[in-house]
Amino acid sequence: MDCAKAIGIVAKNGGRINDYEGVGKVTKGIPPLITVNTTAGTASEMTSFTIITDTKRHIKMAIVDPRITPDVAVNDPELMVSMPPALTAATGMDALTHAVEAYVSTMATPTTDAAAIKAIDLISKYLREAVAHGEDVRTRDMMAHAEYLAGIAFNNASLGYVHSMAHQLGGLYDLPHGVCNAILLPYVEMYNKQVCPERFADIAKAMGEKIEGLSPEEAADRAIDAIKKIASDIGIPSGLKELGAREEDLELLAEHAMQDVCRLTNPRELSKEDIIEIYRKAM
Ligand SMILES: [Fe+2]
Repeated sequence: MDCAKAIGIVAKNGGRINDYEGVGKVTKGIPPLITVNTTAGTASEMTSFTIITDTKRHIKMAIVDPRITPDVAVNDPELMVSMPPALTAATGMDALTHAVEAYVSTMATPTTDAAAIKAIDLISKYLREAVAHGEDVRTRDMMAHAEYLAGIAFNNASLGYVHSMAHQLGGLYDLPHGVCNAILLPYVEMYNKQVCPERFADIAKAMGEKIEGLSPEEAADRAIDAIKKIASDIGIPSGLKELGAREEDLELLAEHAMQDVCRLTNPRELSKEDIIEIYRKAM
């Protein structure tokens, strides 16, 4: 789907795809596009984002423009039942990351909040089941709704440093996007929770945690724990080392992450040293 958007950009606007990296550079739109989704994760079937790997620079370029939004999106859960468990887990955690990053984004609104919180609620209820019993169409249907709602949320509120940092791991080591997000998510949000603990308390509640009587800070910790728990329950690797990430690359990864547009709406400013530290903790 991202490839189709990119081909559409160059077909209608000319030049090379690298010319369009960033936000709002696609002046002429793309030819009509109907997307048929087969995973419950990226929400690319309905967003204005396309992520393309620049194999020379070893980075994933984020290209964002409302003009590349598909005209029609097809989400049929029957097309998702054959997804293997590992792909279901990775894509489901991508959707959870979209919802969490959109909920704590500096551009969040009551509309994106409603979509993000419902997505978090559905993913917390159905992702484990989708991984364990992928043949169940109702579970797949709930995950399709969840990833679509998360798409509505981040298409309008954008994302944060989890995506900015995950894109660089994917670009440098050719790793699956959802797995990189899943590993980084709790570590980035441990940083973010200090500036908006109430938002993380809402996330904890949506994930089914009991937060009555807790301070916002304590409830925020429950959200981080719940994120770690769901990732471990569905077999996500525990650290970046397992994926082959190298300590000596962290500085370069951090430099690239600071150029990625997704960081612009992260609730907390991060220095290069902060980013390196987060990568290190996630190793
Ligand atoms: Fe994503």
